[in-house]
Amino acid sequence: TPRPRVLSGIQPTADSFHLGNYLGALRNWVPLQDTHDAFYCVVDLHAITIPQDPAVLRRRTRVSAAQLLAIGLDPERSTLFVQSHVPEHAQLAWVMNCLTGFGEAGRMTQFKDKSGKQGADSTSVGLFTYPILQAADILLYQADAVPVGEDQRQHLELTRDLAQRFNHRYGQTFTVPAPHIIKDTAKITDLQEPTAKMSKSASSPNGIIELLETPSRSGKKIKSAVTDTGRDIVFDPENKPGIANLLTIYSALTGRTIEDLTGAYDGKGYGDLKKDLAAVVVDFVTPIQERTKTYLDDPAQLDKVLAAGAEKAREVSAATLATVYDRIGF
Ligand code: ADP
Ligand code: NA
Repeated sequence: TPRPRVLSGIQPTADSFHLGNYLGALRNWVPLQDTHDAFYCVVDLHAITIPQDPAVLRRRTRVSAAQLLAIGLDPERSTLFVQSHVPEHAQLAWVMNCLTGFGEAGRMTQFKDKSGKQGADSTSVGLFTYPILQAADILLYQADAVPVGEDQRQHLELTRDLAQRFNHRYGQTFTVPAPHIIKDTAKITDLQEPTAKMSKSASSPNGIIELLETPSRSGKKIKSAVTDTGRDIVFDPENKPGIANLLTIYSALTGRTIEDLTGAYDGKGYGDLKKDLAAVVVDFVTPIQERTKTYLDDPAQLDKVLAAGAEKAREVSAATLATVYDRIGF
């Protein structure tokens, strides 16, 4: 029997992924390559829903792809591509736009959050229809499952509604995707504001650990991470969110349980924990940084990998779109 198909994407909107992206999402992409038929894309069409400098966007798309390869995505075992290289995404998105109610789109809470920060005049219609493009991304590949965090649940619901609506109106065309809930997903918080999530858009530079920053920079950030005034290293996210966050990162990067860690640090101080965590982070990011550099130093090879990925993706997406166009009457 064929493996269930899974699709996931990440925006190229930073020069480095941060530990929240990695531990909350990207890390889970790697083992899915062995159990699923996995499609992964760098979603540059989504990135331009907010203004992007062309040279910066081009650089970040490549850096994102290189980092995905560096963390263990294997183009032989999964399909890795850049969204804009596959024109069917934009084409199916138009069809989905015409299938979505205006009020239905308006109920997407992430849009309300994001546009609220920008004001109506600097908010693009693309940001409004972002979840509809996301639906097209998923449905094009007939994905059975989509790895989702809590923040993406509403968008996946919309995707399911659109798939069912199209199937009902035009005949069975799309697989209705199910959420793929990942058990061990870590929620990483801001080092300076440990009750808020670590985020490239919301955190201060000292609040996030980037995969590609220098070890000394990460080390300084960890050492200046906000903790409480106590001394005991216990896992208590309610009352000691800063220490809990450091323990969560430590555990996720080493595979050691929280219990093992709190046992090992019994009687030691916050300084010891921070110093050791800084070393753990360095050990973790160093090989990722080296592999990322290798991919970026050979642009022709990276182009080749991404072109092959786009070609594999188009085998599926072009077939889906052809069926859709036919059903619609094009
Ligand atoms: P950011 O919040 O930095 O803008 P994105 O919204 O682009 O990051 O998130 C990309 C992926 O990383 C999403 O799947 C999101 O759920 C995950 N993610 C982002 N920040 C965190 C975090 N602090 N903890 C866990 N997962 C996160
Ligand atoms: Na975000």
